[in-house]
Amino acid sequence: MAAARAHWGSRFGFVLAAAGSAVGLGNLWKFPYITWENNGGAFVIVYLVAILVLGLPIMMAEILIGRRAQLSAVPAFEKLGGKGWSIVGWLGVASGTTILSYYMVIAGWSVRSFYQCLVWSFTSYTPPAEGDFGAFLANAPLQIGLTAIFSVATAFIVYRGIGGGIEKATKIMMPVLIIILLYLVGTALTLDGRDEALSMLFTPHFDQLPAKGYLEAVGHAFFTLSLGLGAMIVYGSYIGKKESIFGAAAWVVVLDTLFALFAAIAMFTIILSVPEMQDRMSGSTMGMLFITLPDLFYTNMPGGRILAPAFFILVGFAALSSTISLGEVITSLMIDKKGWSRPKATIICAGGVFVGSILAALSLGAVEPLSSFELIEGKPGVLATLDHMAANWMLPLGGLGITIFVGWFLGRKNAMEELGITKPSLPFTIWIWCLRIVAPAAIIALLVAVAIGKDFS
Ligand code: PFF
Repeated sequence: MAAARAHWGSRFGFVLAAAGSAVGLGNLWKFPYITWENNGGAFVIVYLVAILVLGLPIMMAEILIGRRAQLSAVPAFEKLGGKGWSIVGWLGVASGTTILSYYMVIAGWSVRSFYQCLVWSFTSYTPPAEGDFGAFLANAPLQIGLTAIFSVATAFIVYRGIGGGIEKATKIMMPVLIIILLYLVGTALTLDGRDEALSMLFTPHFDQLPAKGYLEAVGHAFFTLSLGLGAMIVYGSYIGKKESIFGAAAWVVVLDTLFALFAAIAMFTIILSVPEMQDRMSGSTMGMLFITLPDLFYTNMPGGRILAPAFFILVGFAALSSTISLGEVITSLMIDKKGWSRPKATIICAGGVFVGSILAALSLGAVEPLSSFELIEGKPGVLATLDHMAANWMLPLGGLGITIFVGWFLGRKNAMEELGITKPSLPFTIWIWCLRIVAPAAIIALLVAVAIGKDFS
């Protein structure tokens, strides 16, 4: 007989684990960056609308599928919809593997930056030489080593299971994240650029929002909330039957959005407080997080010696609580579908993903042609290609499958039963029509834009 399915210790346990999955590099780096590129205010509003009409309903749909089936994505679709629907689950596993492969590499950089900052804080700050970051990216042993550290940490937590691993780890990491982020925002807000930053972020000028920004907000809603690949299906399968799905989803969405907004407030204030920063922003992506910020911490910010290493703990923990959810997507499939023990599933899956990570790690200048081949124009190298595939195609396609499944195929009765209501209420009707029409229409628009050459990664 199959062992009883593990459950979170409490709703709080689920919320922290799922918020841990959602809060990650997407919040700390990508959201501030794309908000900057889209000129602030109006983009923030479009993003908030996307979170409300797409993010929240799809988050609820994923949790609902998982809890209803008590299984991870592939077998859950199979059980609730039949074999054909399991393709949505498989796509999710493919997305999870793809994202995890390159996310581990970037996450590993936080370990290097943390170490660097510790040294600077205890000695004195010496600005790295020009080209230092490029040389670091092209350093094969270092890239693989740092990725390995992150892969082992992720596997260790997933190996320990739901209560004793993921729930326990996120219960420690999330409060630390919140404290460090608040400290960062509090310090940033003492800088001169504060008023300009707040006005740029929260005064909407729709004439300054590029057309692409609308769909960029839709695409980012998926990535930031960890939607479209079944992560929330898996986490939802461990929620107790008595918990409110709306309540759980709403908490996660609110926490993730607050993290993104606070990160943007901190970044915008820092950028606008240092005149030459604004020029450095254009064209620089990850460089902002790993090169410019440490420099600013030490040269321009009060308490920089504490803030700098603390900031990279924030980045590292945020990334780790995301990688464990991706790891759980793949591991739980092997447990549910193949009947493997958790230790066996974790070790084999982690090993498999690590092979992909090595390719991504070597594609930053260390090895040709991994670094320069261009499957997608303007996106050279394995890492950028994987990111493009996941953000532009895989997550939106997975999300489309999930919305159509719950909106049109699962049946209102099943959905209502799982949501704990006996007759359709107004919020239920709004939710189901978001899933039936609004979300699919937005996702199809995104996919069409990608098909004609737009890039949202
Ligand atoms: N939500 C994470 C972020 O914002 O960085 C990325 C992510 C994690 C996407 C887990 C998907 C996922 F399943």
